[in-house]
Amino acid sequence: MNDFTNLENYIKNTPKTELHMHIEGSLEPELMFKLSKRNKLEIPFKSVDEIKSAYNFTNLDSFLKIYYEGSNVLVSEEDFFDLTWEYILRCKEDNIVHTEIFFDPQSHTERGIEFNTVINGIYKALEKANFEFGITSKIIMCFLRHLDEKLCFKVLKDAIRHKDKIIGVGLDSSEKGNPPQKFKKLFDAAIKEGFLTVAHAGEEGPPEYIWNSLKLLKVKRIDHGVQCLKDDKLVEVLREKNIPLTVCPLSNIKLCVFDKLENHNLKKMLDAGLRVMVNSDDPAYFGGYLNTNLIETSKALNLSIEDIKVLIKNSFKSSFLDEKSKNSWLNKI
Ligand code: HPA
Ligand code: ZN
Repeated sequence: MNDFTNLENYIKNTPKTELHMHIEGSLEPELMFKLSKRNKLEIPFKSVDEIKSAYNFTNLDSFLKIYYEGSNVLVSEEDFFDLTWEYILRCKEDNIVHTEIFFDPQSHTERGIEFNTVINGIYKALEKANFEFGITSKIIMCFLRHLDEKLCFKVLKDAIRHKDKIIGVGLDSSEKGNPPQKFKKLFDAAIKEGFLTVAHAGEEGPPEYIWNSLKLLKVKRIDHGVQCLKDDKLVEVLREKNIPLTVCPLSNIKLCVFDKLENHNLKKMLDAGLRVMVNSDDPAYFGGYLNTNLIETSKALNLSIEDIKVLIKNSFKSSFLDEKSKNSWLNKI
């Protein structure tokens, strides 16, 4: 058996967690097509192949345009259930035992879909995942940062009614020009209601956005954060405070944050002692689920099994699982 086979087997066989995955980003072209027919909605594609060939992005915004268009086929509770259940089947295949998923309610409520429809569909699929496969999960509601803070307060109100299902709030969508300080009041209010906070920062935006997510939004994790290496003082703080950075390598290549996987800075972040881990972000759009991300990144960056073990352990340590469950999984790795 060569080293790569060994490495692939290790990745496949080790229980894993995923902390950065947008459920709308797991909408596979086949399901998009099926739902457009079920809901009698037009999509600007004639076939699954045509959808797939549209997935060439130059930056985050060029992706978001297609991603929001794709989300339009999601209408009923059953649609959100089916979407989530398909992702859960991928979790089972990839040996993901715990997942913390994002959802973007504003991309649905703005189209007249009820918040309850969205959350109930997602939640029922996650309950079934726990019942049938023992897969555990948390739900994080993301605010769309290209929208006004005022509009976000509306959706926070909805989230409060579903506190039993939603553990935290995050910030996604178009980063540049929509800095964390725009949402300081919103995040203060969310924290007051008992939600944990996370935020996308330093995906395309500058290190300053990471600083301000920590200082102003009091985040427990930074989503992406790959721009942090441009600021030595920031790296020092992230390391000392053990701030998790939920890195998504294939996403970063698809959105041209790095030109190729061989030039990704994950290994440098790992060597700098940062608490990084690998995630799939929007797997239906970016070329693969968690194992594919781990395998391709390991090959491109020459990661050792020891490196992979650290990444997987970092992910469990950074999850919102209780300490007992965390330790129980950590002891199995
Ligand atoms: N960045 C910001 N917003 C997003 C992303 C992302 O990678 N995926 C879905 N929404
Ligand atoms: Zn993301």
